[in-house]
Amino acid sequence: MGETLRTLLVGVGARGKIWSRLLADEPLTETVGYVDIDPGNLAWAADRFGATPEMCFATLEAALEAARPDLVLLATPPMDRFGETAQVFDAGAHLLSEKPLTLDFDEGLRIVEAAEAAGLAFAVGLNFRYQHCVRKAKEIFASGELGAPSFSQYVYWRNRDGRRPGLNRFPLTMRQPMLYEQTIHHVDEIRYAYGRDVRRVWCRCHNPPWSMYRDDATVIATLELDDDLIVNYFGAWSGQTKINDFLWRTDCDEGALAQFDLFADLRIARGVGADEFQPIALPAQEPLVDDARLMLSDVARQILAGNLRPHPSGIDHLKTFGIIAAMEESNRTGQPVEMAAFFAQHEVPRHWLELPPD
Ligand SMILES: NC(=O)c1ccc[n+]([C@@H]2O[C@H](COP(=O)([O-])OP(=O)(O)OC[C@H]3O[C@@H](n4cnc5c(N)ncnc54)[C@H](O)[C@@H]3O)[C@@H](O)[C@H]2O)c1
Repeated sequence: MGETLRTLLVGVGARGKIWSRLLADEPLTETVGYVDIDPGNLAWAADRFGATPEMCFATLEAALEAARPDLVLLATPPMDRFGETAQVFDAGAHLLSEKPLTLDFDEGLRIVEAAEAAGLAFAVGLNFRYQHCVRKAKEIFASGELGAPSFSQYVYWRNRDGRRPGLNRFPLTMRQPMLYEQTIHHVDEIRYAYGRDVRRVWCRCHNPPWSMYRDDATVIATLELDDDLIVNYFGAWSGQTKINDFLWRTDCDEGALAQFDLFADLRIARGVGADEFQPIALPAQEPLVDDARLMLSDVARQILAGNLRPHPSGIDHLKTFGIIAAMEESNRTGQPVEMAAFFAQHEVPRHWLELPPD
């Protein structure tokens, strides 16, 4: 490995097109190939980023053989990730995979085990952690300036048109689309910002009669975190109107912190007598792009420095992924799930669980 990571992009769909741009902009990566089963997307890469025919591949196998990348960026739908990750590690490449890692927790665990056994770096694309709002919230909670967080409400209320041109189609028919495609980001933000792990979850998933999604587009959950922090979570992709809503508010010993917009508008209320929130000035970010840009730089820098567990690490991701799988289990059984019991049942190594959150 030299000064840059020779990177192979797999999947040049809605997300992969953004990754093409971010990889081209990033000085620590050099794109050495594009893989997609749709020749139209490879033609797009040729047109926009000058991908030569030698850099365009219909299969991951052929691309790994010919391009010999240092890093693979997987931006395919999650259904076949287990096989894809095995091919990547067999080829000796480091991996940055889009979320959700897979749709099966045990498969996810085996992917992390494979990366560890191969001695290869493995990160999962939790770019929401790189939003300025989320980073700032983490900093405020860690500083203790508001005292300990006690309870929180997280409301993500959307009307997501899954048939919109340019948007992926697989969530329309996949199992639990809201939970695995969207809530996974939110739960990861929650763990990350508070720097605490979830001890117990209860969850109910639901699909309104008008939903365009085959499986549940609404998720309602209670998350109990370390030190008796409780989060009331509501996520919906099938709001009946186009009136969207977002709030992530946390009340703490010495005031409150709240984010009023999906990717912006963080405000703080200092002191128990505060009667209004004060805005916190933060630089603007292009949502889902600039956060991913920061993540890519960070992951590339860590890998080039020899860090085999670059954050957001695969090992850390097992805790977020486990919560999502436990939420699905709770929805199925109607019972809360203790995360310690869940991880023991799935035989997640204890020393991984004992690592501090990323
Ligand atoms: N982190 C984020 O903010 C964010 C945002 C959007 C999507 N995503 C994730 O990115 C992933 C891809 O989503 P998308 O919106 O780009 O989906 P998409 O359906 O638009 O694109 C997937 C692409 O992968 C290609 N593909 C499918 N199977 C392939 C294979 N075996 N080999 C090579 N190419 C293959 C398809 O032809 C398509 O071009 C998903 O896991 C999704 O959750 C993440």
